[in-house]
Amino acid sequence: MPFDRSVKIAPSILSADFANFGQEIRAIEAEGADWVHVDVMDGHFVPNLTFGPMAVKAFRPHVKTVMDVHLMIAPVDPYIEAYADAGADVLTAHIEAGPHIHRTLQAIRGAGMKAGVALNPGTPAEAVAHLLDLTDLICVMTVNPGFGGQKFIDMTGKIATLRQMIGDRPVHIEIDGGVDPTTAPKVRAAGADVLVAGSAVFKGGSVDNRSVYGTNIRAIREAANAA
Ligand code: DX5
Ligand code: ZN
Repeated sequence: MPFDRSVKIAPSILSADFANFGQEIRAIEAEGADWVHVDVMDGHFVPNLTFGPMAVKAFRPHVKTVMDVHLMIAPVDPYIEAYADAGADVLTAHIEAGPHIHRTLQAIRGAGMKAGVALNPGTPAEAVAHLLDLTDLICVMTVNPGFGGQKFIDMTGKIATLRQMIGDRPVHIEIDGGVDPTTAPKVRAAGADVLVAGSAVFKGGSVDNRSVYGTNIRAIREAANAA
C-alpha cells in the first residue's frame, strides 16, 4: 500500500445490498472505487449492529483494492487478531472506545495491519497529538457514527488542524459521513485525502445498473479535485 495524498474514494458498503456483498464490492471496484470501506458496528459503542469478522473474511476475496475496516465497537483489543485473520488492510479504532488507544494502535500494527484512529465529532484534533507516529490514518467523523445517510457536520477546522499536526508524516486523513459532491470540496481543501461515501455512491444504482455507481464516484472525485 504505497502512500500518497491524492483523492481516494472509499464507498461504504453499509449502503450496499446486505444480501449481495460480493457482487456489490466487485461492482464499486469496477466503477472506480479506490478503497472499500467496511463499517463494523456492535450495538453498544454505536446504536446499530452490522457484521463481524466472519463476514469481513468472506468479503476479502472480492476486494482487489484496499479493505478499510472501521470498527465502531468497544472493546477493540480482543478482536484485533480476528480482523487481521479476516484480511483487513487498514483497521481503524475509535479513540472514544476505550482508555488505551495507544496500546490498541500498537497492537493493530503488530498484527500486520495499517492502524487508523477515528474521532467522533465531539473529540478535538489535539486528542491524537501523541499518536501521530503510531497511526497510518486519522478518520474524522463528520456525522455521529451509527448510520448512513445522515447530515454532514462541518469539521473543516479540525481537518485543517490535523493536516498541520501531521506535517510530512505518511498519515492519511479520512472523512466519514455525509460526503457528497457538495461537501467533498470543503474537506479536500482542508486537507483530507480519503473520502468515505455510502449513500452518495450507492444511491440510484444496483449491481444490475452499476454504471450509476461509477457516475456517483466520479462526481465526488471531480468535485474534490476541483477544490
Ligand atoms: C457511519 C459510517 C459511515 C457511513 C457513511 O457510522 O461510519 O461509513 O456509512 O454513510 P454516508 O456516506 O451515507 O453518510
Ligand atoms: Zn465508516
